[in-house]
Amino acid sequence: MAMNALSRCSNQLRRLPLTRLRQMSTSPWSFFEMAPLDPIIGLNEQFQKDDYPSKVIVGVGAYRDEKGKPFVLPSVRKAEKILAEGGLDMEYAGIAGEPRFVDLALEFAYGEDSAALKEGRIQGVQALSGTGGLRVFGEMMKKHGSTTLYLPNPSWGNHKNIFTNSGLEVKNYRYYDADNSSLDFEGMVHDIKSMPAGSIVLLHACAHNPTGMDPTLEQWKELSSVIKEQDLVTFFDCAYQGFASGDASKDAAAIRMFVEDGHLISMVQSFSKNFGLYGQRVGALSVVGRDAEEAKKVVSQMKTVIRPMYSNPPRHGARLVTTILEDPQLTAEFREECKGMADRINTMRGALKDSLESAGSTRDWSHITDQIGMFAYSGLSNEQVLEMRAKHHVYCTGDGRISMAGVTSDNVDYIANAIHDVAK
Ligand SMILES: Cc1ncc(COP(=O)(O)O)c(C=O)c1O
Repeated sequence: MAMNALSRCSNQLRRLPLTRLRQMSTSPWSFFEMAPLDPIIGLNEQFQKDDYPSKVIVGVGAYRDEKGKPFVLPSVRKAEKILAEGGLDMEYAGIAGEPRFVDLALEFAYGEDSAALKEGRIQGVQALSGTGGLRVFGEMMKKHGSTTLYLPNPSWGNHKNIFTNSGLEVKNYRYYDADNSSLDFEGMVHDIKSMPAGSIVLLHACAHNPTGMDPTLEQWKELSSVIKEQDLVTFFDCAYQGFASGDASKDAAAIRMFVEDGHLISMVQSFSKNFGLYGQRVGALSVVGRDAEEAKKVVSQMKTVIRPMYSNPPRHGARLVTTILEDPQLTAEFREECKGMADRINTMRGALKDSLESAGSTRDWSHITDQIGMFAYSGLSNEQVLEMRAKHHVYCTGDGRISMAGVTSDNVDYIANAIHDVAK
């Protein structure tokens, strides 16, 4: 080793605490502690280890068919066949991904007739599904001087980590009234009115995770004007378009209303749930600018975050969505299939409520059928959730969130009895 490299190395070692130096003499990893399991994904690991025959998992938000099996949309199967026969190359995508996919994704959310889209004021990039798009947004905003992002309380469990790791301070606004199992709209408006100008407010575009409670259209209208008065940066997280009502266009109503009202929003889209493309990591991150030039500048900044992070996104899932959305027949089939998933979930909401009543529960479970989207925010406490896991081997997240997509005619009574037993 050259002399100056040697002394640089010994200088660095001298700066390490003695205990760490001792540990390094055996292994550079000896001082690594076991990290806690992820509260949502970690549930699957726990579930796999459980050998109880009637065990049930209703934790992770992934759709299951009537037999409780993972479901691939028939339109996606058809698109796969078309792609396989297309003899496509496997070259890198650009930093912003597949341009045709991005165009179609934006039309899907903002609407083909969107004036802002036609004016070129909405631009975007392909993202590593919803999570990747959220992180790119967080990093970009931090780089451009933002300090604080507000999340609804509660929100999807990963939001806080994503934005804290992006360097933003994460705060909450009131969203859910647990005592009445309803939206705390008054609290929400009050908290938004107290946010300092320039703060980022994250809104779930539809099918709020975990509560399944969305503002009504009138309430969205009010939020639109309150947010405008406050001069906030509005960031929509759109992970369930099609899962709330079964109609993807209807579920985009809040986004479209905000853009029509003149908000210069940003939005992340996930195609995990509506297209059932979970592991393919298909998403988009977009921005609405005052003009095309401004939107393009923002996209260029998204690209400067993406390039050193993962260079460019995978192509296959984006090509699947493109193949479907480019073809009117396949798009119609997809819309039917998406509605089929939403309808099955709604049927299971009714079935779970009925089973709870048949099991003898006298509690009011109407919130299960009032809520929409993939989840039922059951109202079970953490203690009750843990008891249900230990006694009945029914796994839901620690906050009592039940993925309705995992409930089937075969397991609904078993789940209802388990809930009733711990909630009596
Ligand atoms: C509200 C919300 N946003 C984003 C995501 C991220 O999803 P993905 O990264 O799988 O697209 C999820 C997933 O559950 C979610 O519920």
